[in-house]
Amino acid sequence: MTDGPLPVYRIATIPGDGVGPDVVGAARRVLEGAATAFGFGFDWFEITAGGIGIDTYGVAIRAEDVAAAGTADAILLGAVGGPRWDDPNAAVRPEQALFALRGGLELFANLRPVTVHPALVPSSPLRPELLDGVDLLIVRELTSGLYFGRPSEERRTADGRVAVDTLWYTEAEIRRVVRLAFELARGRRGKLTSVDKANVLATSRLWRKVVEEERPAFPEVEVGHQLVDSCAMLLVRQPAAFDVLVTENLFGDILSDEASVLAGSLGMLPSASLGERRTAHGRFGLYEPIHGSAPDIAGRDLANPLATILSAAMLLRWSLGQEPAARAIEGAVGATLDDGYRTRDLVPAATDAGGLRVVGTAGMTDAVIERLGRGSAGQRPSDRDAGSSSSSADDEAIATIVVADTLLGLP
Ligand code: IPM
Ligand code: MG
Repeated sequence: MTDGPLPVYRIATIPGDGVGPDVVGAARRVLEGAATAFGFGFDWFEITAGGIGIDTYGVAIRAEDVAAAGTADAILLGAVGGPRWDDPNAAVRPEQALFALRGGLELFANLRPVTVHPALVPSSPLRPELLDGVDLLIVRELTSGLYFGRPSEERRTADGRVAVDTLWYTEAEIRRVVRLAFELARGRRGKLTSVDKANVLATSRLWRKVVEEERPAFPEVEVGHQLVDSCAMLLVRQPAAFDVLVTENLFGDILSDEASVLAGSLGMLPSASLGERRTAHGRFGLYEPIHGSAPDIAGRDLANPLATILSAAMLLRWSLGQEPAARAIEGAVGATLDDGYRTRDLVPAATDAGGLRVVGTAGMTDAVIERLGRGSAGQRPSDRDAGSSSSSADDEAIATIVVADTLLGLP
């Protein structure tokens, strides 16, 4: 087909703890299937991090392993944490691996897309009519804010114990993530909602100023500011009104778990963490499911691999420039769900599984791989070319957003 050797991409896997190895193994098999179908190859290397890093090396991740991960074309991560390392007061904790990778590799933008596959509508606790047309993208700032601000500590004082965390943002940290969100909105339905708490926080007021300063460079994007508390409410009342949301680290953490309920299960949501650095093939990034390590079902062929498989599709798109392969995976996941395949977490509690094929991690992965070559590419549920112009319900919700801000006297 082509002259010259096939491209070979170097991928670091960080399986981590709990179901991490189950789902990373599954996604790796799907990536190999896509590589065969689309004519490229992978060179894998594995990094030990998380709770298993603590057991092996005494730290969640070694500095040299962060550096090694940075030499890959992309990183595929499972999950970290578990009951063995659960003491929040311990000096060494599995989550530190995430912060070392995010901060150390400057992966400042965390993309969390939320779409609802029609077959999974019954799996969500929300009324079906609310889920119609849901296709949103949360862009969470990932390397600053309360997660990284110093001091962050407990102190003993004459008045008893005091604890402090620091919410800190520089203008540059806000600007780079806001710009990326504008660009993403421009490539989608052209709506950007910036989420803050500008009626209380100085960092939020700076955030809002920076968004306004960037606005003229993106005249085709319609921008709204939304306070985080009312945003949390609108995410379940009118989720289809949102396109791209951009917000600071902690708000994004909370809102993305809330938004996952729309998709039917936490086991469906992928994520990409990106920085500014480019490799020869695309943007360097780290890809992981947003669910945790679920230690109770680890190693038992029960974990839903779809969030990690969809993260692998994002990896192909963003870091390797393999858009057709990414779409093929997303199409295959959609076809697998259409054909009735479900892991346990996707079977609605109130229904019996009649008509559905309840499978484990391996069965679901096999079903996706089988459908990879069947030309289902381009049918992903989130396809925004499929005539999804804004409805009057969307306009109403945006109007509500504007009214809420006006009432508060905010710019
Ligand atoms: C996430 C997780 C992490 C976070 C935890 C595990 C530290 O909740 O990626 O959303 O808070 O960032
Ligand atoms: Mg979280």
